[in-house]
Amino acid sequence: MPYYPDDVVNEVFSENDIVDYVSRYVRLKKVGNDYSGLCPFHKEKSPSFHVSRDKQLFHCFGCGASGNLVQFVMRSEGLDFVEALKLLAERAGIALPEKDDGGGSKTQLLKKKIYEMNKLAARFYYDTLAKTDEGKIATAYFRERKISLKTLTTFGLGFAPDSYTALREYLTKQGYSDEEMLEAGLVIQRDGKIFDKFRNRVMFPIIDLRGNVIGFGGRIMGQAAENNGYKIPKYLNSAETPVFNKGKNLFSLNLAKKSSPYSIILVEGYMDVITVYQAGITNVAASLGTALTENQAKLLMKYCNEILLCYDSDGAGQEATIRAIEVINSVGGRSRVIKLRGAKDPDEYIKANGSAMFLKAVSEAVASTQYRLNILKVKYSFDSPEGKALFISEAVQVLRSISDAVTVDAYINQISTETGISRDAIYSEFKKHVALHSNSEQNAAERELKKTKQENETVMIVNEGSTKLLAAEKKLIYLMSSSKKAVDTVKESFEVEDFCHPIHKKLVGMMYDARKENKLIELSMIMNDFEGGEVNYVSDIFYSFEEFKNSEEAIDELIRNIKIEKITEQMKNEKDARVIVELTKKLNELRYGG
Ligand code: CTP
Ligand code: MN
Repeated sequence: MPYYPDDVVNEVFSENDIVDYVSRYVRLKKVGNDYSGLCPFHKEKSPSFHVSRDKQLFHCFGCGASGNLVQFVMRSEGLDFVEALKLLAERAGIALPEKDDGGGSKTQLLKKKIYEMNKLAARFYYDTLAKTDEGKIATAYFRERKISLKTLTTFGLGFAPDSYTALREYLTKQGYSDEEMLEAGLVIQRDGKIFDKFRNRVMFPIIDLRGNVIGFGGRIMGQAAENNGYKIPKYLNSAETPVFNKGKNLFSLNLAKKSSPYSIILVEGYMDVITVYQAGITNVAASLGTALTENQAKLLMKYCNEILLCYDSDGAGQEATIRAIEVINSVGGRSRVIKLRGAKDPDEYIKANGSAMFLKAVSEAVASTQYRLNILKVKYSFDSPEGKALFISEAVQVLRSISDAVTVDAYINQISTETGISRDAIYSEFKKHVALHSNSEQNAAERELKKTKQENETVMIVNEGSTKLLAAEKKLIYLMSSSKKAVDTVKESFEVEDFCHPIHKKLVGMMYDARKENKLIELSMIMNDFEGGEVNYVSDIFYSFEEFKNSEEAIDELIRNIKIEKITEQMKNEKDARVIVELTKKLNELRYGG
């Protein structure tokens, strides 16, 4: 563990029981050795969510969510590993050693103060809006924009008075220093003077997944204007602070995640979120006035299965949509695009057409690949062979970002029908692009992308080449998890590197290591060493419904099968006749005994 010693983590695991903990969220029924119930991570009518007391793991056969208790807490509470561990430690009355975060406890302390100041500021802005005379223009502004009083309180919207000193004075009274307020970005310093950053603006507090106010957006109550030649921006946002990182947070994700939605609608602006939410559609969030980042996409994917992009309908919105699709693809997420006709943004659309029409548009969201192909179709004319060729050369670039072969194939079919160009020609164009790009990718982002693609490809190739081999390895690993004897037997035959899948290699490596200390791996613990989709893959191995006999014969049989499969694979690619003869000999030995 990067943060805490293993034995402490171990204690946290052994003092918390996954069935007890999960029962607080999910009504569980005992089924055989497991417990099952309705999955808290996706909508379902019949229970496919399983929890095992023996293994201390959960697994959903519906949506694939899996992991150990810490991973359950991370997912259900929106915490990172350390935070989830802390929560479980507290629950069990275990004291975790203080971890030094580089800046030491001083940063911890400052962060705590900034959270406090932000909370006080949010309350101050809210009270100014709701309880003072000067706040009346702000309530009038929101009323004009059709925001109800209930919505104002749901989002904690507020008003920063037209004053240079109001908030500073308030926070001074509460015991905070100017330095601290500057660190929080609530006041700014110019020409030696310190004054309130947000003035005469309606305020939108930005709240993280733990309910902390981490920053603010403030909007003027009219159109963007000029003052003495100085342009006053329509929106002003908090600067980055020790607690506020724009690229890692989303506006209103704290509310959106509450309903454990299947999808989350991603919009551009504060007002879009608020209007959509007020229309009863609560699974909505906004990236904070920036292009969607990988971190934001990853965060979103933790809470839903797909992102529905609903950016502004202008050209800039379309470009931002394409970029967002690429970012979501690059982190392995899925997206679709909602098209709104005749309105600038979701806020205006709902106000003009009502929420039913918006819901209709949501239900008609198109797959992101289709969306990108549609744009290209408009761009190029199919009247000439050249137009078709240009279209196809761009279209295959779009297809490059799809990670599963079946979908690529379906799109190639579709493009072939639409253009009249043969499937084979399109497919070879596609392959050319894939090859071209895998050579020239240089920067880190692309390398990362390539890595995940390669991982996907490994899975695909191995899957295609020999599903049998993969399955046999999985079974073997499953059996090795509960028998030291099995680990020993396998170790006599295979090195870690002999296993074909990267996750298998990692697991077997862990088992061999544990064996050196005369131990078996602990399933709940090893889960900590896997991330994202890997967790699901690993858990699938150990969550197999099949009952395997864990006997010496079964292990020997599997080892033999794996050897046979490997040699068969090798023979497929071998051209040297002498080697083929050798391999055939080995194969016969394995099949019919020496
Ligand atoms: N934004 C910003 N700074 C600006 C303009 C915009 O941070 N100067 C961000 C805000 O988060 C804003 C979003 O970009 O909500 C979208 O901007 P825009 O489309 O201009 O505003 P709307 O959301 O339509 O806001 P409104 O309806 O209040 O005019
Ligand atoms: Mn708007």
